Amino acid sequence: MNYRHAFHAGNFADCLKHAVLVWLLRALQRKPGGVFVLDTHAGTGAYDLESPEAQRTGEWHQGIARLLADPPDLLADYLGLVQGVGLYPGSPALIRAMLRPQDRLACCELHPEDAATLRQRFSRDPQVAVHRRDAWEAIGALLPPAEKRGLVLIDPPYEQPNEFGQVVTGLKLATTRMRQAVLAAWFPVKHRTPVRELHLALRQSGLRDIVSIELWLRAPLDASRLNGCGMIVVNPPFGFEAAAGTILKAMLDRLGAGQDGAGEDGAGFAVDRLVDE
Ligand SMILES: C[S@@+](CC[C@H](N)C(=O)[O-])C[C@H]1O[C@@H](n2cnc3c(N)ncnc32)[C@H](O)[C@@H]1O
Repeated sequence: MNYRHAFHAGNFADCLKHAVLVWLLRALQRKPGGVFVLDTHAGTGAYDLESPEAQRTGEWHQGIARLLADPPDLLADYLGLVQGVGLYPGSPALIRAMLRPQDRLACCELHPEDAATLRQRFSRDPQVAVHRRDAWEAIGALLPPAEKRGLVLIDPPYEQPNEFGQVVTGLKLATTRMRQAVLAAWFPVKHRTPVRELHLALRQSGLRDIVSIELWLRAPLDASRLNGCGMIVVNPPFGFEAAAGTILKAMLDRLGAGQDGAGEDGAGFAVDRLVDE
C-alpha cells in the first residue's frame, strides 16, 4: 500500500468527487429518515494543505485553491463545508459535517497509519464508526444497515491493475446487499481504454440505473498522467444528471485552464447514462 492521499488532497479530482458527494447526500437527506453512509476507502479524514506531503505536489493549487479564489454560486454548499472544516476535508470529514442526528457514517481504511489517524479523529463520535478493514470485504459485512436509505462511496487508489474490475464487483455486491442504496465510485481517466472497458463491464453487469460522469482537463491520451476523472453513480437520486452537468461545467470553467489561462485540447466533460432504470 504505497498510496497516501495526503499528497493529492484538494486536487481537481477531489473537488469533483466531493462536490458530487455533497449533492448526493443532500438529495438523500431530503426525506427525514436516517441515512447510512459507507465510505469504503476513507483515507485520514482531513488534510493540512501546508503539510510537506501536500506542499511537495502542490496539486491543491490547481484544485480547491482555484475554487475558493473564485467560488461558483452553485458550489456554495460544498465550498462552505470545506471552509467550515478548516483543513481540506476528505470524504469522512465532509460527510460528518453533513450528518443529521438520525444519520450514521461507517469508514473503512486499510493503511495502518491512516486508519489510526482516522480512528483518533472520530474517537468520541457516536455517529461515526471507523474500521481498519478491507473495503471489498466490508461492503458485504456492513450492508445492509438498519436504515432504509444508504449511500456508498467507493474511492480506491487504483494502485493495482485489477481495481476497475474490483469496482464493478463491489458495485454488484453492494446492490445485492442493499438494492436501493445510492452507489458512487470514483475512477481516474488517464487513457480512454480502461474507461471504455469499465463502461462495457457495467453495461453487461446486470446492474440497472447507472450514470457515468467524466471531467477531462485534456485529451485522455497519455496513460502516465491523470488527464481527468469520473464517477459512476448507481441509483442516482432524481435530478442527478442535470445537477452533474452544472457541477461539471463549473469545475471545467475554474479548473480546466492551464497556467497560461487557456484550456488544453480535449478538455471537456460528459454525463452518460450507461443503463436505464
Ligand atoms: C483515494 S484515497 C481515499 C480518499 C478519501 N475517500 C477522500 O475522498 O478523502 C484511497 C484510500 O484507500 C485506502 N485503501 C487502499 N486499499 C484499500 C482497501 N482494500 N480497503 C480499504 N482501504 C484501502 C488507501 O490507504 C487510501 O487511504
